Order: sequence, then structure tokens, then C-alpha cells
Amino acid sequence: MSQAKVFITRRLPVELEQLRSHAWVEVWTERQPPPYEVLLEKVKEIDGLLCLLTDRIDRQLIELGTFKVISQMAVGYDNIDIAAATARQIPVGNTPGVLTDATADFAWALLMAAARRVVEADRFTRASLWQTWEPDLLLGPNVTGATLGIVGFGRIGQAVARRAKGFEMKILYTSKHRCNPELEQSLGIEFATLEYLLQESDFVTLHTPFAEDTNHLFSDRQFQLMKPSAILINTARGSVINPDSLYRALSSGQIAAAAVDVTEPEPIPTDSSLLTLDNLIITPHIGSASRQTRSKMAAIAIANLIAGLTGDRLPYCVNP
Ligand code: DGY
Repeated sequence: MSQAKVFITRRLPVELEQLRSHAWVEVWTERQPPPYEVLLEKVKEIDGLLCLLTDRIDRQLIELGTFKVISQMAVGYDNIDIAAATARQIPVGNTPGVLTDATADFAWALLMAAARRVVEADRFTRASLWQTWEPDLLLGPNVTGATLGIVGFGRIGQAVARRAKGFEMKILYTSKHRCNPELEQSLGIEFATLEYLLQESDFVTLHTPFAEDTNHLFSDRQFQLMKPSAILINTARGSVINPDSLYRALSSGQIAAAAVDVTEPEPIPTDSSLLTLDNLIITPHIGSASRQTRSKMAAIAIANLIAGLTGDRLPYCVNP
């Protein structure tokens, strides 16, 4: 029997020895993702694909592919046509769980940085503008005791809530499914409609996956409901926020500030009007970027890939 072949669309932060004992491995070593045309050719000759959220794995590519498994190194998989893969009985793996804490930590890093204007303060200092201690220099709101609205209450939303308890916050959450009363009580959280949450929250943090019903969930109307002092955090997916609405809300003072780790599109175009705003922090999709977390994500992606090659059930399979 000929040896299985796999294609990995970027260098990974783990050793590939174990995988090499199952398959001949090709790694795309460029910094940029393989172009779609390259992927179209590759998938015609491989048994397994290990991809990232920057690779478009659409129906055309899936239908041309000879692969038995698609393993994504990410928890989100909105770049993959799951229905097309399922129709061809191709299991798709993801890497849930291991990035929950890193992403929740990063949501907090952004929340604190936006509230206390850390990035502006650094720019101010480097511009040699620090002349003395001033009573009203770079003021921001209190985080302790404020109201936090969590939109989307899966693993990461819940991890954010656990951290918020330490800041003695009032915590509202909205989600497709309401949590059981025991969990609500232990986390000290209150279920709310999105409208109520937006009206009441000092900080709003997004943790919903990207799907048809979350596409531009935040548009003009949602920003209009928010407090002028509110701060919005997004570590989920860029397309949950309409970027034109975000620009209008921040530039008109409809909300006070935002901090986003994800944008629509990614990377953010260098001429985006959002880049002109002082009250917006933008980071390059690094929510899960702790060394330990990225190694664990890669290890799970490889375990999923090997399981698919050997015909076993993937440890983390997303097909219904
Ligand atoms: C994911 O895993 O979906 C994140 O966006 C990247 O870590």
C-alpha cells in the first residue's frame, strides 16, 4: 500500500515525528498562506489536509479533493464548508478547549487596555508629551464594579465571566441557550436579551462564532442602543461587527472606545478608516497566541489528522 500524504498549510510549533510515521508530510513554509490555486492542486494528491483559518476550504476544493480528513488548527471553522465535507463523509477536526483560557485572558487584556487607555498612554509617552503628573491625564472608567455584557456564552464567554467575578462586576450574558440556574448562580450571571444587555453594559465583549445569524450582528442599530461611555471588545470573529458601523460609532462618540483582535477583512486594509481612530485598539488575531496554547492546538490538530488517516474517529470532530 502506498504511503499516505498530507499537506500542512503553514509551519507548526510542534515536532512532526509522530505524524511522519503515518504519512509523507509536506509543509508550506512561506509566511503567507498557500494561494487558493495552489490548494486546488494540492488537494488532488493528498490523504489529509491540516489547515488554518486563513485557508478557504470551500465546496469546490472539497469536491476536487482526494483527502480522507481535514484538520483545522483552530476552534473556529467558518472558513470550511462543513456541509460539503459532511456530504462527502470527510471528517473535519478542530481544536476546542485548549485555547479557552488564553483567549479569555486576551479579551481581558484588551478590556483593561481600552478602559485604562494603555495604548494611547504609550503613544503619548513616546511622543515626549509626558511633562508632569496631571489630575485629568488620560482618564478612563473604572473596571471594578462596572457592568459587563457577554455576547455568546460558550467556553470562552464563560471563562471571561469567571474572570469578571474577580473584578466584582455585574455580569449580563446573552446566548442562544440559557445556562442552568446552578451555573448562573455560581458565576453570578444574569441572562438578558441583546437589547437590554447593550443598554445596560459598560463593557460589551463578543464571544459568538461566526455564522449567518451573527454576520454583522453589531451594526448601526446595536451601537445606537449602547451607552456613550461603553467599550466594545471583540476577540471572536471580525464579521460579527459591521466595520462601517464601528467607524461611525467610534468617530461620532456613540460609544467611547473599542478593542478588536479580529477584523473584516483580515488583515485590516492599510487604508481602513478604522486605523485613524485613537479610541480603537486593533491587534492581529492573537487571542490564542500563548506559546503553550499554540503548541496544544497544533498537537490536537495532528492527533485529529492521524485519526482521520487511520480511519479512527477524530478526537475533536465538528461534523454533525
Ligand atoms: C480560533 O481558534 O478559532 C481562533 O480564532 C484562533 O486561535
